[in-house]
Amino acid sequence: MSLADPDLRASPSGHRAGAAPILEARGLQAGYGEGLVLRGIDLAVRPGEAIGLMGRNGMGKTTLIRTLLGQLAARAGQVLVDGQDVTRSPTFRRAQRGIAVVPEGRGVFGSLTVIENLKLAARPAADGTTPWPLDRVLAIFPRLAQRAGNRGDQLSGGEQQMLAIGRALMTSPRLIILDEATEGLAPLVRDEIWRTIRTVREAGLACIVVDKTVGAVLSVVDRAEILVKGSLVWSGKPEALRADPELMHRHLGV
Ligand SMILES: Nc1ncnc2c1ncn2[C@@H]1O[C@H](COP(=O)(O)OP(=O)(O)O)[C@@H](O)[C@H]1O
Ligand SMILES: [Mg+2]
Repeated sequence: MSLADPDLRASPSGHRAGAAPILEARGLQAGYGEGLVLRGIDLAVRPGEAIGLMGRNGMGKTTLIRTLLGQLAARAGQVLVDGQDVTRSPTFRRAQRGIAVVPEGRGVFGSLTVIENLKLAARPAADGTTPWPLDRVLAIFPRLAQRAGNRGDQLSGGEQQMLAIGRALMTSPRLIILDEATEGLAPLVRDEIWRTIRTVREAGLACIVVDKTVGAVLSVVDRAEILVKGSLVWSGKPEALRADPELMHRHLGV
């Protein structure tokens, strides 16, 4: 292999396109009841890589995330973590291998305090390290530190979202999946969430970002993937997508 091989060059964000994927989908199909939603998805996320999973409402983004995590059964195809087939493994096994999710709707425990929510999620990585201990998470979310003793149901929407991201980090992930993390938040709070996503990126975590704010997604990811009716129809660099207004309009409505 030559060093000129494009697959071996590090990207600006430090991931190596030639590295083995953390998470991979091969010919993945899934749906609800009789209906098929995902029509054969091929996708790979490599260490340190950030992917923007784009597409209009109802195209299957959340369904893909749920199938990757094992919350929804695959009808056909495979999910692999570090090259190992986990298609039939339960969700917690995938989490143990370093896949964390910040779900649509956040999922914080309303009756527990901020600190209790964070501590409950805490888990070392498979190699025994704890890259995101409580003090580091509180340092990137000063608002959570201020609200440490407040219950989840006493937090604002933005604070709950920060807590959901903090909880995901406490699981020592290698890949973090954010599904509509800025949905319904005020502009200033959104900015704070995007700053955090950048911090997480700079720390070397891989991520999959789903968000309606197309411009913000394109500013943090290495690659965009466009989902239309359960099929990935376009994949490429954010610059290439930005340079094609017709494509953006047709598939993203912007
Ligand atoms: N729990 C469910 N039961 C039945 N159909 C669902 C369910 N969740 C989503 N769908 C359908 O699956 C399709 C994809 O939805 P979803 O994955 O939520 O899209 P997105 O996240 O891209 O907005 C839509 O047609 C939606 O109506
Ligand atoms: Mg969704």
